Amino acid sequence: MFQHFLPTKIIFGQGVAAGLARIIQEDFPPGPILCLTDKGVRKTGLVDSLLTKLRTVEIFDEVEANPRRRTIDEIALRARSLRPVVVIGVGGGSVLDAAKAVALLVTNPGSIRDYEGRQRYTQSPLPMVAVPTTCGTGSEVTWVAVITDENRKFKMSIKGPEMYPRIALVDPETLKTLPSPLIAATGLDALTHAVEALAVKVASPLTDILALEAIKLIVAWLKEAYKDIKNNHLAREKVMLASLIAGLAFGQSDVGAVHCLSEALGAWYDLPHGVANAVFLPLVMEFNLKYAQPKYARAAYYLNLVAPDEDEARAAREFLLKVKSLKQELEIPSARALGLREQDFPLLAQKAVENNSNPSNPRPVSYEDYLSLLHQALAEDERNEDS
Ligand SMILES: [Fe+2]
Repeated sequence: MFQHFLPTKIIFGQGVAAGLARIIQEDFPPGPILCLTDKGVRKTGLVDSLLTKLRTVEIFDEVEANPRRRTIDEIALRARSLRPVVVIGVGGGSVLDAAKAVALLVTNPGSIRDYEGRQRYTQSPLPMVAVPTTCGTGSEVTWVAVITDENRKFKMSIKGPEMYPRIALVDPETLKTLPSPLIAATGLDALTHAVEALAVKVASPLTDILALEAIKLIVAWLKEAYKDIKNNHLAREKVMLASLIAGLAFGQSDVGAVHCLSEALGAWYDLPHGVANAVFLPLVMEFNLKYAQPKYARAAYYLNLVAPDEDEARAAREFLLKVKSLKQELEIPSARALGLREQDFPLLAQKAVENNSNPSNPRPVSYEDYLSLLHQALAEDERNEDS
């Protein structure tokens, strides 16, 4: 038995974001509109050009990477007095998650911290429209907002069936101005979503198909996108589609130990989410190898990395090698360059083991296992420096 619930209308294609104003006018009652974005996206001129035809729009562009509880609470205070009819998020995962969280707080009192967990709200959040501008988040089709509680240095998950975006406007054109390190980091976040969605215990036949296709698109197109996102419109389209499909996969399945680590690290060091995932993806795959062997092998067959009659263990390892080489080619910074410190490892391992997604990982992961994975990430750096 499996279920698949997705109330989000997905509109995908080159140039679809230009229809934002018309969609808002057609699908929502007249009234004030709240738009969240970040300074980087605002600077590109995209947000202002998309909203120019709308009246009474308030733009908040101060959403930071790894959005904090205080930021969300402050925006919500101002948003409540605006009384918006819809919240729009134009940006990466941080912006989309912030928009979901603010949409919740416009109709419910207090701080976002009061809503940590599943469906803790009493009133339905405002409808939210997501316009992703990276090729990694998947947040446009998930029910969760991840917000950092800066006091606990912990990433909270706030979720519920009414938190799915009402509309996801997924336009590959928005990637045109994304710097190549962000293409690499967010693309590898999408790959992590797909690999974890495929391997976790709660995967379904439907999420398997989505995850496999997302992996295939990323392996085939991410390097091309990384090299020249501005001029390669086909690569833009493929990696954006991969990100969407990977979001559909993990949104209904789950993520695993890579995200447990990257969320712990992201909250503690304020690291880019995709980079933290990329550092740990091959290490966790190696750790999971025996338990996830049939799934990794299936990916290898699906990608034609091996002959269809190849032995399963060998096929699974080939898939792991493919992921390792992709990470290297995309020039992801090392764990040491990210500022990982050994003295923080006990605390990071503890936070990882407490993550809600930890039980989903195909192989049981203990505190000691997380400690070992963190040490392996640093040791890998030393090996690379020596060679
Ligand atoms: Fe992620």
